[in-house]
Amino acid sequence: MRQRGFSKKPGMREIQMRLPGCHVSVISNESTSLSAAAGGGLRRLKRYHYAFKRLHQIFMARLTAEPLYELKMAFSLHAHLCAEHAATLRKRVGEMREPPLGLDAVPDPNLEVFFDEILAAPTTPELACGLYEKAVVALKAGIEGHLRDTNPLVDHPSVRLCRFALLELEQMSKYGAQSIAAMVDSDCRQQMTKWLSFLDNCLAAAGGLDGARSVAERIPRNAKSEAHLGNSAKERANGPLSPSPTRTTRELPDPVGLSPSEGEREKIQRAGVSPGCGPASPKTLERHYSAKPFQYDRVPRRDERFPDPYNMGVNAEVFLYDKTFSPEPKTLMMFYKRLREVDVPEMMASIITETPGRPWEYYRDMSRQLWDEARHAMMGEVGFANLGINWPEKVMINHTWSMALNTQLKPIERHAVLYFIEQGLMPKNGKRFEWEVALASHNGLSALFQDYDWADEVLHARIGRDWYLKEFKNPQEAVRYGDECWSRVLMNWENWRQKGLTQHRNWWPELYRDACRRWGIEPDPKVLEYSTTYQTVRADLKELTGSA
Ligand SMILES: [Fe+2]
Ligand SMILES: [Fe+2]
Repeated sequence: MRQRGFSKKPGMREIQMRLPGCHVSVISNESTSLSAAAGGGLRRLKRYHYAFKRLHQIFMARLTAEPLYELKMAFSLHAHLCAEHAATLRKRVGEMREPPLGLDAVPDPNLEVFFDEILAAPTTPELACGLYEKAVVALKAGIEGHLRDTNPLVDHPSVRLCRFALLELEQMSKYGAQSIAAMVDSDCRQQMTKWLSFLDNCLAAAGGLDGARSVAERIPRNAKSEAHLGNSAKERANGPLSPSPTRTTRELPDPVGLSPSEGEREKIQRAGVSPGCGPASPKTLERHYSAKPFQYDRVPRRDERFPDPYNMGVNAEVFLYDKTFSPEPKTLMMFYKRLREVDVPEMMASIITETPGRPWEYYRDMSRQLWDEARHAMMGEVGFANLGINWPEKVMINHTWSMALNTQLKPIERHAVLYFIEQGLMPKNGKRFEWEVALASHNGLSALFQDYDWADEVLHARIGRDWYLKEFKNPQEAVRYGDECWSRVLMNWENWRQKGLTQHRNWWPELYRDACRRWGIEPDPKVLEYSTTYQTVRADLKELTGSA
């Protein structure tokens, strides 16, 4: 029977001729220069993996003490993205028939110096320029080169993950460029010129971030006159991996298991090569900022949009669970609770940074949760912005929780508190309740936020079971330990007041009045009167006063 729309049914040969071949672009010989067997492609993949891992480490290690809110949030996102790409690359390297995988090895000592320098950058502009102008840009260029050099048919699994990585590196790079343009003027740039060119030299000495250049090409131009280079050109070209004269790489802190073990290092030094990572680099360049061991700063800092960071004058939970109040003003308390979650990334980053030696899946899961908590904080920010409320003026977002946990508890104890709080959010009066309040308030944005917030918490409870619960004999013991750690935390309500750190000002009536003006309604006098603080009620509602 003749088919409608076809004047003539094409033959099989004709169809074959018309179909695009998905392998057309791989016929050229030029597409075969990266050989997996020779270690070229694999060596580069290991370097990208190392770069993502180090970027993740730096974003985490610098997030808590970074005062700028936008950067704090961006570091949360970018750490999560880097953790995801590092995980994908680890999986891919595992497929490439070259055991041992050497994923914990440092691929090049100058690459190690490069990232250590950025980790130790003393100012935010230097940190941002090191991260976004140097590391992210070099990693992006390396992966773009990989796509040009590899064979897209034989190496398709790598090509695919490189393409995905590029999408997010591009986003990170754009964000970084915009932030730097906002922060760095010409004087500021002038002051960091020398250090930025030192970072370039580190990359050059490492053969580029991807190591694609030969050893001879790695020696920076004008190297002999370069003050940062401590060794002769001959030594640089021939010498085995050696520590810098001022500081051995062995002295570096190893917060997330980035460095090779002692045994691995000896093997590297004997062989003069990085295992599975190609020929040795020239001598290690002399360190600048990283000449002294990096000191991790776990004390949270905030910018001027958080003018009263010890204020615990408005108890959100008591208001939220009071049945006599209507749902509408409760949405304000929920926006406050969400925005206050900025302290969860600050606290979680300290757990991640100070818990070395766990499987990469641990860092990946914890980083995902950390980013979710940053998203929750931004939901609160968007909620206030949507109502036209100037939150830095009207809402006092404190950092008392992250400050107390980070300075009073060990990393496992902080995790215990987080687990205890998150388990408390699962029953009826937790996230479901907040979602129901939001639905009843007819604030569509609040309902949307609480819907996703609840879903995220279910994932976080799973992450807690996977990485915290396993440390205990039974779930009851894990919860009891979390309760005990939380009870030990001193929230010095009165002490902070006496020291003049805060007056615990009741900012609620002003916020509520402002919202009512925007809603076009008269304030409810009973809601206006609300003045319960965290001073006296905390003992009874201790499990509700934390962030998660
Ligand atoms: Fe949360
Ligand atoms: Fe959470």
